[in-house]
Order: sequence, then C-alpha cells, then structure tokens
Amino acid sequence: MGQARAYLLASLAAFYLVALAIPQVTADMTDEVNLLWGNCKVQRDGTGRQTVAMSLDRWTTSGFSSKIKYLFGRIDMEIKLMPGNSAGTVTTFYMMSEGPWQFHDEIDLEFLGNSTGNPYTLHTNVYARGVGSREKGYRLWFDPSQDFHTYSIIWTQQYIRFLVDNKLIRQIKNKMMNGSPYPNYQPMRVFSTIWNADDWATQGGRVKTDWTQAPFTAYFRNYKATSCSQGQNSNVCGQSSPNGLFNQQQDQMQQQQVKEVDAKYKVYDFCDDSKRRIGSSEDCQSQ
Ligand SMILES: *[C@@H]1O[C@H](CO)[C@@H](O)[C@H](O)[C@H]1NC(C)=O
Repeated sequence: MGQARAYLLASLAAFYLVALAIPQVTADMTDEVNLLWGNCKVQRDGTGRQTVAMSLDRWTTSGFSSKIKYLFGRIDMEIKLMPGNSAGTVTTFYMMSEGPWQFHDEIDLEFLGNSTGNPYTLHTNVYARGVGSREKGYRLWFDPSQDFHTYSIIWTQQYIRFLVDNKLIRQIKNKMMNGSPYPNYQPMRVFSTIWNADDWATQGGRVKTDWTQAPFTAYFRNYKATSCSQGQNSNVCGQSSPNGLFNQQQDQMQQQQVKEVDAKYKVYDFCDDSKRRIGSSEDCQSQ
C-alpha cells in the first residue's frame, strides 16, 4: 500500500473513532431505529422532532429496535406512558443479544401498568448467558404518563447502570471474578415494545387488561446512542472510551442517589429473596 494511502486510511479511522464517541442526537429517530411490527406511527411535534407512537390493542403488540447492535455504550430515550387504566400492559425499553436463547444477554427496563390512580412499577433486570433473576422493582417519584422522562442504560465492562432523568437508580457491578455471570462479549440491540401481560403484570395478575380502553399508546422520542468505534454491524467500546464516559467510578453523589431511591422507591429486590437470588447476599448488597 502506498504511504499516502495508508496515511489517509489511518486518519479516516481516527476521524471515525472521534466522531462516534460524540453523543449522536439525531433529528430523526427513524434514522436509528426500525419500526418492526404492530402499530408504530411516526409523528412530528411543533419543532419538527419525531415521536414514535406505539400502540397495543387486543390483536396487536408493537415494537421497534435499533438498526445496529452495541457492545457497551449508553442509550437514552424519552418515554411517555399511557395514562389512566394501563393495568395488564407492559411497556419495555431493553437491550438484548442475538444467538442461542440459553446463552442470551439482556438488560431490561419494563413499565408495568396499573389501574387508574395506582402507580406504575418500573421493573429492572439483567440476564447474562441466559441467567436472569436479578429483578428489582421501583415506584417513580412522578407520574410517567403526564410527561416525557428520560430513561437510560449505561453498559460498560465494569458496570450496568439504570438512570431516570439522569438520576442513578441502580448499578450492577461486573462480579465475574466472584462467579457471577455478566454480559461482556455479545453485542446487543435496543428494543422497545408494548404487550399484554395481564396474567402476571399488575398486582400479580389479579387485575386484567380492560380492552374497552384500547388502543393503549406510549410515546418515544430523542433516542440517543453513545458508543465508541463502529465494529461490524455493531458499535464497540473497549476498556477506555475516548471521552472517559464509561470509566467514571460511581461518585458519592450517585451513591447517595441509589441509597435514597432504594429507601423511598424500591418495592421489590431479588436480594431479599434467597430462592431466586444468584450469588451471595453480600454480592447483592455491595453494588
Ligand atoms: C399497582 O398499584 C397497587 C396498589 O397501589 C400496588 O400494590 C402495585 O404494586 C402497583 N403496580 C403493579 C404493577 O401492580
């Protein structure tokens, strides 16, 4: 290869590394996601910004997914849930690997609907190599159907974090050294779906979906994916990202946030459930 050409390629590669490290706020969400199935409609608000309206009725579940996969990164999305009687419905925002199901990795945020006037539950979980059962459930400190709020997943080699309006609610550290499975090598795609789960979702399945209220519609906007370099069909972050985004230790303020959220808003914790817990309770607590 000629020297000039090698130089050109190297600088192009450097350019892409830097360019991709910058959060990509795209004007159009559909540049980043494919509307996959069911009833997903693209709307524009007064400023021209895209919103995806996704609906559930008796016959149709709906969903979209990111066009590419990510191996580590940060995903932010603004979501506004359906108001009123949403009992039986589950609205999701999650990341999932492809390939054999028994080894799949998954990072979950799920909003379990409720009857009018009763609070949603935000359910969080992680699967690594097919092993899940790390559920924690939360109430929110606002009504998630009144406005858009930002929900985020940060996934690095060291930890997984869930944030609500930039407030850290949960962290799961990589404890593979202690034998706890951790998703650390399979790229994942981002999904959002709405489906009916009235056999278990609301008050343990006692409250059923009221189909006379259908369609149930949730809104999604400002999808933002931050990751590092572009691998084949996926974005990959190594040990360090150029902007240091993924290497921050959990600082004191965030530790405080998690403590506060745990004390005030946590309603379910797999750590308290020795039958379902994987790993020791010390592992559970020391996140
Ligand atoms: C629904 O509301 C009831 C009563 O406040 C509460 O016990 C329950 O956890 C809420 N969420 C779900 C998903 O059932």
